[in-house]
Amino acid sequence: MTASIIDARAVRLALGKGSARVDILKGIDLAIQAGETVALLGPSGSGKSSLMAVLSGLERADDGRIDIAGLDFGRLDEDALAAARRGRIGIILQAFHLLPTMTALENVAVPLELAGEADAFARAAAELEAVGLGHRLDHYPSQLSGGEQQRVAIARATAPRPAILFADEPTGNLDGATGATIMDLLFDRQRETGATLLVITHDPALAARCARIVEMRDGAILSDRAAA
Ligand SMILES: Nc1ncnc2c1ncn2[C@@H]1O[C@H](COP(=O)(O)OP(=O)(O)OP(=O)(O)O)[C@@H](O)[C@H]1O
Ligand SMILES: [Mg+2]
Repeated sequence: MTASIIDARAVRLALGKGSARVDILKGIDLAIQAGETVALLGPSGSGKSSLMAVLSGLERADDGRIDIAGLDFGRLDEDALAAARRGRIGIILQAFHLLPTMTALENVAVPLELAGEADAFARAAAELEAVGLGHRLDHYPSQLSGGEQQRVAIARATAPRPAILFADEPTGNLDGATGATIMDLLFDRQRETGATLLVITHDPALAARCARIVEMRDGAILSDRAAA
């Protein structure tokens, strides 16, 4: 059996203080193989974004074990965790989170440059070309449509060739038609880069495009099945 690229065992997370303390993840076991596409479904508040936060190293689990690409995230200090995430993990969120003072090209190139990549700007341009934005390199986010901004965010996430792409409701801020093209694009980029994809969605049609569907309820995994 091959090692899982994402391997979570008995993961627990509680947030808030005192009487406001809430158990959010209540013992999650989840193993995902390299190159798999997995949809994470579940009602609002069931813990989907929280699970993604601990799997991507944005949040530390309180208990259990998280191995990502063979690294035990719980044992890494802040610097080691940041270094481990860089280049291994790409994140795409519902609100695109582009830097407003940077052009599309800079939004993609600057993180590459900070990561010490040579030819950051040339690679960023190629990445934006791949998402159909070759003609918008010098536009600022405010000059781009929502769908175009999400394309930039996808280019930014895939540019360092991460082994894992996490997407939290990537079409949540887009109209249906634009959302559909963005999902096509996300799956295209996943296929081309061979990345593992974990995508949170409320859209069953979108979930069905993944090979596997994991459903959460109240901080736990309710079902885990191959898509029909
Ligand atoms: N910092 C926090 N402190 C306390 N509780 C929190 C905190 N962040 C999230 N929660 C609670 O954790 C639960 C799970 O939240 P989470 O954002 O993971 O849900 P979700 O499944 O992503 O929901 P949605 O579909 O609405 O995005 C919610 O009940 C939320 O109120
Ligand atoms: Mg959420």
